Amino acid sequence: MPISLDTFARFPLAHLPTPLVEMKRLREALSRETGHKFPRLFIKRDDCTGLAGGGNKTRKLEFLIGEAIAGGADTVVTTGAVQSNHARQTAAAAAAAGLASVLVLFDTVPYQGRSYRRSGNLLLDAVLGAEVRIVPGDADAGAVFAGVMDELRAAGRTPYFVPVGGSSAVGSLGYAAAYHELAIQLEDAGIGDAALIHASSSGGTQAGLIAGACHRGRGPEIRAVNVYRADPDHMAQGIHALACKTAALIEAPAPAPGAVVLDSDQLGERYGLPTDAMRRAVELVARTEGVLLDPVYTGKGMAGFIAQLLAGVYSQRDAAIFLHTGGMPGLFAYEEEFVAS
Ligand SMILES: Cc1ncc(COP(=O)(O)O)c(C=O)c1O
Repeated sequence: MPISLDTFARFPLAHLPTPLVEMKRLREALSRETGHKFPRLFIKRDDCTGLAGGGNKTRKLEFLIGEAIAGGADTVVTTGAVQSNHARQTAAAAAAAGLASVLVLFDTVPYQGRSYRRSGNLLLDAVLGAEVRIVPGDADAGAVFAGVMDELRAAGRTPYFVPVGGSSAVGSLGYAAAYHELAIQLEDAGIGDAALIHASSSGGTQAGLIAGACHRGRGPEIRAVNVYRADPDHMAQGIHALACKTAALIEAPAPAPGAVVLDSDQLGERYGLPTDAMRRAVELVARTEGVLLDPVYTGKGMAGFIAQLLAGVYSQRDAAIFLHTGGMPGLFAYEEEFVAS
């Protein structure tokens, strides 16, 4: 039964349902390379949510912007890294709702590519009319946010704060609903036993999916690839707490801690820094399926998906599904990774 979302304020932004597409050529390429048999492979195209380049945050922002408008806000404030996809989608969502946006971007990623601090998402933030404030990576986040909110209030504005990644319980409702959307697509396609794999960072996508699974009581298993934290246990605890809060909002049973499955083999040196496996995954999927991933999230996520397939993790299943959470503008910020300079 789909979740009744009528009790939550919601501002429509996303083109839904997003397509579920079979990746036959990727499967063939992997079989050719290894001689192994693989389950059917699918990609759930949440890069096609439709808002200014798409991506997973659009689903969360429907509820967050809904709450902002219901509370009388005129300005949305959010945060992330310099190349935040979340910040770009928040700027677009605010524009579509007639609100101003302020993006507080922490310069935390020590990537020195020539376009990292000019192009990609940062370029789109400017085009979308956001006020961008770049702050040093080691600044005290709590103090910076309090300062920005006070300043806006003193100027007579009514700001609404969206946490990093839109990962509050309200934002995660977007992925509780997405779980039902995908489960229905799988049922309609006659696919019974499937696993869903995606890149996880601030955790709202994973928490929402887990809450959606608890609400539905049946459907694909959820497994995530950590692209964010060097301490996966701490990350998993945070995601579990958020999944419990989101489940409570939709009156679903609380998830067990074991529901948070995180593969941390693809992080590399740290968040935002490229890995060889990421580059190979981005190029392989582009060249077999014509689908563009990104260097920070979905490229590492897909590298994990492929490594798990090769290790036989999904060999007993009917299907393995990769959730494409967007991020393609990030390719332009990391151009050196893909073209000789
Ligand atoms: C393209 C992309 N994929 C995945 C994620 C991870 O989503 P979450 O922050 O909900 O864990 C993000 C977060 O910014 C993202 O931009």
